[in-house]
Amino acid sequence: MNRIPVIAANWKMNLNRDDAKKLAASIAQIADSRVDREFIVFPGFLTISDVHEIITGTTISLGGQNLHYEESGAFTGEISALQLKDSGCSHVLVGHSERRHYFKENYETVNRKVHRALQDGLKVMLCVGESLEEREQTITEMVVVDQLESALARIALKNLKNMYIAYEPIWAIGTGKNATPEDANHVHQIIRKTISRLFNEKVADEMRILYGGSVKGENITELMQQEHIDGVLVGGASLKPESFASIMDYK
Ligand code: PGA
Repeated sequence: MNRIPVIAANWKMNLNRDDAKKLAASIAQIADSRVDREFIVFPGFLTISDVHEIITGTTISLGGQNLHYEESGAFTGEISALQLKDSGCSHVLVGHSERRHYFKENYETVNRKVHRALQDGLKVMLCVGESLEEREQTITEMVVVDQLESALARIALKNLKNMYIAYEPIWAIGTGKNATPEDANHVHQIIRKTISRLFNEKVADEMRILYGGSVKGENITELMQQEHIDGVLVGGASLKPESFASIMDYK
């Protein structure tokens, strides 16, 4: 199966408007010369419109880092799928471990967010991954399968083409530690099998499964050589033009 590689940048709660615009402009230049890859950037909400202006006309897609599961209404401080779309977003991250951990998002809220985003026309990058404790208890597979089953509950088969899965072992996020490419590939294979069991083999085959957790220029090539790793979701190393350039341009 020939799956187009996806390189995604999660800027988290970083960068002011000026820095975001500069970084977007440098990413845009590289994206122009790499039409064989898909690029998505997830800026903070307040810089989305600025980044949108810079990347319009390029192949880079824009995404929100979170959304609320209701369509609109009295939810002070929240952002809806339709507002994200209105600001130029085509994608949204759902279930990032920082949301699950710090903001107590549970299986049900993650599932509701997936439904809302798809219903309102956003593509979803669903994040899953185990904690260090869970890894040490050797229950990685169970945790990841549970996260997938709950997040994908009652999602129609036709919507799977608008989804990506990002496998991010929590202990590898922002820590400088990363799963070995073989270990990551093994979990990606489990994810693909689970999608196949829940839906069918064709959509599982087509699903882009990204790895995230301390991805950098030095480890991307080896990661991308793995059969089931179809892309990367990059946090820290996506914040500097040179380091993200080396990831976008990996050989
Ligand atoms: P990191 O973050 O690359 O800084 O480890 C990845 C993520 O949380 O998406």
